[in-house]
Amino acid sequence: MDKHYDDEVLRVEDLTVYYETAEGTAKAVNNLDLVVRKGKTVGLVGETGSGKTTTALSILRLVPDPPGVIKSGKIILDGMDIFTLTEGEMDMVRGYHASMIFQDPMTALNPLMTVGDQIAETLRIHEGLNKADSVAKAQEMLKIVGIPPERAKEYPHQFSGGMKQRVVIAIALACSPKLMIADEPTTALDVTIQAQVLREMKQLKENSDMSMIMITHDLGIIAQMCDEVAVIYAGRIIEYGELREVFKDTKHPYTQGLLHSTIKVQDRRGHLDPIDGTVPSLNKLPEGCRFHPRCKYATEECKRRMPELIEIEPGHYSRCLMAEKGE
Ligand SMILES: Nc1ncnc2c1ncn2[C@@H]1O[C@H](COP(=O)(O)OP(=O)(O)OP(=O)(O)O)[C@@H](O)[C@H]1O
Ligand SMILES: [Mg+2]
Repeated sequence: MDKHYDDEVLRVEDLTVYYETAEGTAKAVNNLDLVVRKGKTVGLVGETGSGKTTTALSILRLVPDPPGVIKSGKIILDGMDIFTLTEGEMDMVRGYHASMIFQDPMTALNPLMTVGDQIAETLRIHEGLNKADSVAKAQEMLKIVGIPPERAKEYPHQFSGGMKQRVVIAIALACSPKLMIADEPTTALDVTIQAQVLREMKQLKENSDMSMIMITHDLGIIAQMCDEVAVIYAGRIIEYGELREVFKDTKHPYTQGLLHSTIKVQDRRGHLDPIDGTVPSLNKLPEGCRFHPRCKYATEECKRRMPELIEIEPGHYSRCLMAEKGE
């Protein structure tokens, strides 16, 4: 992804993140490149342990250290080289330039504080609002995510799971970030509420021209929410492109497998059936293409040589030796 655009909100270059533990080194993210443009939603999809959350945490400089180590990379967020900022500067970046919705709403909320106060506090810290204004704006934010403002006085335990997640979204939206990172934002919700929250998020995003990274293992959510999609396998992007291109003209055997298993299984049980085999352990990655042990097209060469991420058609990339050879 060497192309540069005038409206880039985020550029991640050559990001490599390891976790050094007693069991060995988990190579969680490897030489990852990603670009998010203004107003666009990029989906990050992959099986469990593929490095999605680690990528997101890196953007906000929240990778726990130890055991996390940023081995290489450069991240430009809204024009700032974030690895060069001070901790104080990073505090301002989080919330104003980029905010993150975490998977589990309960861990993101303070059980001892009313939901209204939690939103208001964010506004006071990041927007410098006074007490009265922050309380008023917090109520407005609740209304935006579909919660009656009078419930601002209640505590998280008085809310259902779906409403808690809406509060988390309200907090993340409070400072109108340029980039919203949503890490499995609806996984903890039941299916009907999931659809509703996603619709609202999409609407809010469109109204504010925000950019978004949507992390999920659910291709249905990707199809609903995203303009572009990055498929990640064992810490590396293996296919990237516009949503329609990746879904209709799929290049990588892993993406084909993901799409196929979604369709196949949705008829029967309604959830994703993984491709045969499992994601390799990140401290014992196979040589060559990391997908080769599970790939039905694998050749001897695939066992030896790691393919590059190649632009096969304009804006559509695949990391596969078949693609390299134009097959
Ligand atoms: N704090 C940590 N200490 C050690 N290893 C970690 C830590 N956090 C993540 N890892 C490892 O890094 C790899 C990538 O984890 P990450 O959470 O980024 O994956 P993910 O794609 O978000 O998975 P999931 O879909 O389950 O959320 C995994 O192998 C995981 O075990
Ligand atoms: Mg995760």
